[in-house]
Amino acid sequence: MTGTWKPQQTADGSFTFFSEEFGEAFHSRHGAKSEAFEKFAQATDLVATAASGSIRLLDVCYGLGYNTAAALEVIWAAHPTCIVEWAGLELDETVAIAALTPDYLQLWSTPVQQALTTIAHTHQVQTPTLNAHLRLGDARQTIQTLVADGFQADAIFFDPFSPRRCPQLWTVEFFTWVARCLASTGRLATYSRSAAVRSALLATGLAIGTIPLGDRALPHEWSQGTIASWDGRSLHPLSPMEQEHLQTRAAIPLRDPQLTDTAAQIHARHQQEQQQSTCESTSSWRRRWGIE
Ligand SMILES: C[S@@+](CC[C@H](N)C(=O)[O-])C[C@H]1O[C@@H](n2cnc3c(N)ncnc32)[C@H](O)[C@@H]1O
Repeated sequence: MTGTWKPQQTADGSFTFFSEEFGEAFHSRHGAKSEAFEKFAQATDLVATAASGSIRLLDVCYGLGYNTAAALEVIWAAHPTCIVEWAGLELDETVAIAALTPDYLQLWSTPVQQALTTIAHTHQVQTPTLNAHLRLGDARQTIQTLVADGFQADAIFFDPFSPRRCPQLWTVEFFTWVARCLASTGRLATYSRSAAVRSALLATGLAIGTIPLGDRALPHEWSQGTIASWDGRSLHPLSPMEQEHLQTRAAIPLRDPQLTDTAAQIHARHQQEQQQSTCESTSSWRRRWGIE
């Protein structure tokens, strides 16, 4: 499978792609590189885990590999001999190949560039500090092979296109499979702070916290994303506004009972459930909290 995309520069100077197929960029316009560090590598406490000498990572929607690259930089800067066990899921292998040009690779150190290059070309890496396997295909199927292999991640980077553009990967059913790959002390990070995504994570039995905005306060935004873990320990709690969001119609999660539905089918089912719901409307929640 191959897509069509255009190079696009983001606000921190780093490049991403814009996907014509999904009608969306691969990264935040505020900064592709900074997003990989702030929402994924830093939010999952990699340095603390890597101190043990080994760490297991799962990158859901590998794309250009930025989340993996940022993670490897952070881990090896603090613990240069740390052994990384890595699994990646991706539908379109040509994205990673297209990102093997200086504009994209120059963001990273030489060992990380080598890892990205080998993953793109052969989908496997075997070195003293990296054991990596990129599984190609629809993540709704490849996640099941990972569960069958007993893979348990200390950190999961969850980075599909948005729920509007790619609802297949934000359903309760898909998250249930992903959660089966999360170790008892692991953390899952995603850029999404949508109520439907958060309630889908809660439905799997995971606890959730927010990724605070920090000094990046932007109008209409209340969070940089969501962290999930089994024990909920040391997560940043949701604000009262975010908690109330989970009581509204926006919190009805997406469903894909057999993991085979199209985006249109998933949206149609969701719309029907929202119409039948007696929960508070999301617009009244927005008015109450002064969100435009
Ligand atoms: C937002 S981009 C990921 C960006 C990536 N994490 C990075 O740092 O470059 C979403 C990715 O999901 C992939 N994708 C779309 N549908 C998929 C599916 N059903 N299964 C697996 N990957 C999928 C796309 O090819 C794209 O590479």
